[in-house]
Amino acid sequence: MTAKPARSVDDAAAGTGSGGDIPRHVAIIMDGNGRWAQRRGLPRIAGHRKGIEAARAVVKTAGALGIEVLTLYAFSSENWSRPASEIADLMNLLRRFIRKELEALAGEGIRIRVIGNYQAFENDVVELIDSAIARTANNRKATLVVALNYGSQSEITDATRQIAADVQSGALAVGDITNEAIDARLSTHDLPPLDLLIRTSGEKRLSNFLLWQAAYAELLFTDTLWPDFGEDSLRQAIEEFTQRDRRYGGL
Ligand code: IPE
Ligand code: IPE
Ligand code: MG
Repeated sequence: MTAKPARSVDDAAAGTGSGGDIPRHVAIIMDGNGRWAQRRGLPRIAGHRKGIEAARAVVKTAGALGIEVLTLYAFSSENWSRPASEIADLMNLLRRFIRKELEALAGEGIRIRVIGNYQAFENDVVELIDSAIARTANNRKATLVVALNYGSQSEITDATRQIAADVQSGALAVGDITNEAIDARLSTHDLPPLDLLIRTSGEKRLSNFLLWQAAYAELLFTDTLWPDFGEDSLRQAIEEFTQRDRRYGGL
């Protein structure tokens, strides 16, 4: 098997070249919107609004760098424990984002995917999300995966339940319960393996995000608050990734 040609950050941006590999799949825990706003004496929603701008810039940069898949954690299954007013603000921002950016994203060749139980959102939001997925389904330049009402433990529990049902019906033998069988039942089953997981805002935890998928991902924690994370921050993160030595248990 021949190794695929390696590309560096600059080469990828220029559309040419050789150097360290850039990641195929990057995921980001976009954290720190509230603190960004609080530090400025602003309401938390101002931080979320700025956070959406950051997300838009990062999607653009990821595309320019040739990252195949960008997965953004936008709403966790635990975020329901926030005040109803903040949840309503977040839903309104989601509505506005889809209405405002869908055509541009579609024009950029981006395929939008969602992981998580977004069907639990209000009907009009579910319809908007479904329309975004359908509108961009045939795009191939890059994939933007948005994690909405996502929780990794529930995802693994659901996969386990499916496997149990398959064993019960006789479709699957106990001996065929492999890592691949579990992987195939996760919402990320058709995406490339996760290479790099970034969390902003200084917190050093995964908060129920991609626990299975992160088994051999490189982890990068930065103190930068999400609204301040932009093109340069992503380029720096990718640069750091290219310097890492991924050993997968080998030497
Ligand atoms: C991340 O920012 C956005 C969501 C979780 C929706 P936070 O809202 O968690 O910001 P902090 O952590 O309170 O600063
Ligand atoms: C994780 O951030 C979820 C998202 C970024 C969507 P949180 O702010 O909800 O995480 P905790 O509560 O600090 O673990
Ligand atoms: Mg937070």
